[in-house]
Amino acid sequence: MDITSRPLQVTDAQAVLEVYRKIAAHPGGFIRAEEEVDLDYIQGMLENTVGTGLGMCAHDLTTGELVGFITARKPGPKAFEHVLAKLTIGVLPTYQSKGIGRRIFFDFLEAIDASRPDVLRVELIVRESNVKAIAFYESIGFRREGSFEKRIRRPNGEFETDIPMGWLKPGI
Ligand SMILES: CC(C)(COP(=O)(O)OP(=O)(O)OC[C@H]1O[C@@H](n2cnc3c(N)ncnc32)[C@H](O)[C@@H]1OP(=O)(O)O)[C@@H](O)C(=O)NCCC(=O)NCCS
Repeated sequence: MDITSRPLQVTDAQAVLEVYRKIAAHPGGFIRAEEEVDLDYIQGMLENTVGTGLGMCAHDLTTGELVGFITARKPGPKAFEHVLAKLTIGVLPTYQSKGIGRRIFFDFLEAIDASRPDVLRVELIVRESNVKAIAFYESIGFRREGSFEKRIRRPNGEFETDIPMGWLKPGI
């Protein structure tokens, strides 16, 4: 499969929304449910990402379709100017487990290394049951930084722990 990656733009909002909704239709990945995501939400996310953070997406070169994305943005306060937070990564279900998530995350961290001296830390939060994603993040240098107990309430009423993870730029 021929895949290419490039920086995300606000004009990608509709394509990102479609990918987001297809992923959110399967429980266990994103926290936000399919009906909690609309074009306004995605546009806001991309405006923040382009304005303060960094976003990448992957295209299938054969179909031209946007098949995966990663976004992260600055939290706001000056004390957190070196931080990219609220990281979201998603790959279309039919394209998962083919190396696309690893590729866009690698390109994202490489872009931070190469051209974002202002960014020293990247953080994300992942549900404890998403063991494949946690193993993936650990394999690219993220470390567990604690646990937010009972942070998630599943549709059946059960609670789940959320795991904060952080990546520090090598050498800081
Ligand atoms: C997590 C996710 C972005 C990984 O992207 P991917 O393209 O499927 O991953 P890759 O094929 O590049 O594989 C990288 C690692 O991801 C993990 N992974 C693979 N398929 C996965 C899946 N269906 N769900 C979760 N993690 C998966 C594996 O640990 C894999 O490691 P390996 O290469 O050592 O086997 C993707 O599976 C996804 O969109 N999942 C649903 C949304 C989600 O969980 N987002 C993260 C919320 S914090």
